[in-house]
Amino acid sequence: MTESLIDRVPVIPVVVIENLDHAVPIARALVKGGLPVIELTLRTPVALDAIERIAAEVPEILLGAGTIVTPGQAKQAADAGAQFLVSPGSTQSLTQAMRETGLPHLPGAATVSEVLALLEAGYTELKFFPAEASGGANFLKSIHAPVPAARFCPTGGISPANVASYLALPNVGCVGGSWITPAALLANEDWDAVADLARAASELSGA
Ligand code: 3PG
Repeated sequence: MTESLIDRVPVIPVVVIENLDHAVPIARALVKGGLPVIELTLRTPVALDAIERIAAEVPEILLGAGTIVTPGQAKQAADAGAQFLVSPGSTQSLTQAMRETGLPHLPGAATVSEVLALLEAGYTELKFFPAEASGGANFLKSIHAPVPAARFCPTGGISPANVASYLALPNVGCVGGSWITPAALLANEDWDAVADLARAASELSGA
């Protein structure tokens, strides 16, 4: 993987879509808010269709598929039009399937041994998941001295209340979070509010 995924924006919006008709308005709201990237999680039945729609109708967004937990999902997401892939953890077959798509991807790790295994496999940009439950910013601070080559996009439990503690770390490129597209705003189709949350997140700064 040559292209950096984690140094583009301070926050990658992690989106769970229940209603297919929300896909394009959400993507447009993120673009409008100055955060032209989306990680659409494969957690709902409409997720792959949502990726297809966004790929067709909002080409200006960098479109990722998240929650890749089986090798088959990597190809499905790529076929639907995803431009990058994110997995919450890593197995050899999962990383192999993600590599085979040719897309940039972030494999997940939550322990030092998992990080070392992924470095051995050639990765330097990883998802740290579930971030808060796995030691949070303190874990990443502790791992930086012994394993400086690994850089992270922590995700899981990150919010406006704790995001600064992550972005201040030298081994964090960006964070992932679902707070920009909360279920209540999506249910109300409040796209202006999503754009406002995206704008606030886009203005966060890192180390
Ligand atoms: C993910 O898949 O990256 C996380 O579930 C997002 O975590 P959050 O909902 O706590 O932001």
